[in-house]
Amino acid sequence: MEPFLVSLILLLLLPLHGSSSPPCNFPAIFNFGDSNSDTGAHSSAFGPALPPNGETFSVQPAGRYSDGRLLIDLLAESLGLPYLSAYLDSVGTNFSHGANFAALSSTINDQNETFSRGGYSPFTLGVQLQEFTQFKYRSQLYFLGGVFMELMPKEEYFSRALYTIDIGQNDLTQGYSAKKPAEEFIPDTIGLLTTAIKSIYDEGGRHFWIHNTGPLGCLSYTLAATRPVPSEFDSVGCAVRFNELAQQFNRMLNETVAKLREDLPLATFAYVDVYSVKYLLVSQAEKYGFEHTFTACCGYGGGAYNYDGSKRCGFRTEINGTEVLMTKPCEDPSKRILWDGIHYSEAANRWIFDRISNGEFSYPPTSPISACHGGKMVVTEKGKDR
Ligand SMILES: *[C@@H]1O[C@H](CO)[C@@H](O)[C@H](O)[C@H]1NC(C)=O
Ligand SMILES: *[C@@H]1O[C@H](CO)[C@@H](O)[C@H](O)[C@H]1NC(C)=O
Ligand SMILES: *[C@@H]1O[C@H](CO)[C@@H](O)[C@H](O)[C@H]1NC(C)=O
Ligand SMILES: *[C@@H]1O[C@H](CO)[C@@H](O)[C@H](O)[C@H]1NC(C)=O
Repeated sequence: MEPFLVSLILLLLLPLHGSSSPPCNFPAIFNFGDSNSDTGAHSSAFGPALPPNGETFSVQPAGRYSDGRLLIDLLAESLGLPYLSAYLDSVGTNFSHGANFAALSSTINDQNETFSRGGYSPFTLGVQLQEFTQFKYRSQLYFLGGVFMELMPKEEYFSRALYTIDIGQNDLTQGYSAKKPAEEFIPDTIGLLTTAIKSIYDEGGRHFWIHNTGPLGCLSYTLAATRPVPSEFDSVGCAVRFNELAQQFNRMLNETVAKLREDLPLATFAYVDVYSVKYLLVSQAEKYGFEHTFTACCGYGGGAYNYDGSKRCGFRTEINGTEVLMTKPCEDPSKRILWDGIHYSEAANRWIFDRISNGEFSYPPTSPISACHGGKMVVTEKGKDR
């Protein structure tokens, strides 16, 4: 076993503080990202995620771009923690076990164009970090007293928390649309991500769970928007150039995370290969009980993708001169991989989470869940061989 794996395990053998519940090593989660893990930020700022978004979810409005739970919800559940409230959500929020800074359409790169003029989200990773720093300091103003103390995390949670990051997909589509050379914009983008992670570390963050970016070329929206010629599809039916772009980003991200392990020896990093899990699902959809692999469950236009960017799920749109709400999902979202052609269904997220939660697709092969319940990170046999 490599020395850093030993230190990883030792670092995660954190003492449980008192008898506070839940009895987890990770008392809180702080999440940064885009719509893949937005639990209400975009809704708070720009209006709700309209139905049928959230139709499978128990809490309404769900503020999520899916029929139900996202990977971040399933992670919180598995750690025995409540679902994360969006930092921007000022109604009914409870941050005692973490906060979520992720917002739909967010990028790592700064943006120049306002959202209302068709730009990406103003809640870039840099802004999310500012929010986090604000949150960290202001949440500790215990002189507020009373109920506020019950709604905020304890100071010690910031160093014991799990910091989860899932962002980059929108930077890839933006760079691609702007015809920027990937060799230039990917390193710049990863450079900004690295700076962000170091800032979290400087604020006391020690445990990082970093998702790579999924197979962009297997989503209805990239497929419908670009209509690759037959030679540009892989054997599964995904658009090769988008998947290559994602893989290029992921390779560099993995190398960067390896470098961070050296630069920040007090921290632990799990690089989670979400790309491979999602690709596995897409390539063997039927075997795993899913149908219509590339078809949006809630979309418009029919055909193999059922996706029309101007008539997206839950958005108001005009059809034949009448304003309508795009509300009609497919009959059974539990049999679908793609919810709205961009985001995964709860059923797919559950399938994906089952595979990333045991460490099989992480480097090092660690599991946050075993860290919670067993009091230590589990390193699998595969890990010992390395
Ligand atoms: C924003 O504008 C600056 C200055 O013109 C430019 O360098 C940068 O690339 C722009 N960023 C984006 C995302 O367009
Ligand atoms: C906030 O959530 C925690 C965990 O679910 C709970 O124990 C606490 O009572 C909640 N606080 C308030 C004021 O509801
Ligand atoms: C990530 O990098 C590690 C080395 O740091 C390597 O062992 C692992 O296979 C890489 N994972 C992927 C998915 O490329
Ligand atoms: C819109 O009008 C066209 C022509 O009358 C018709 O074929 C089509 O079905 C209509 N679409 C909807 C969604 O009603």
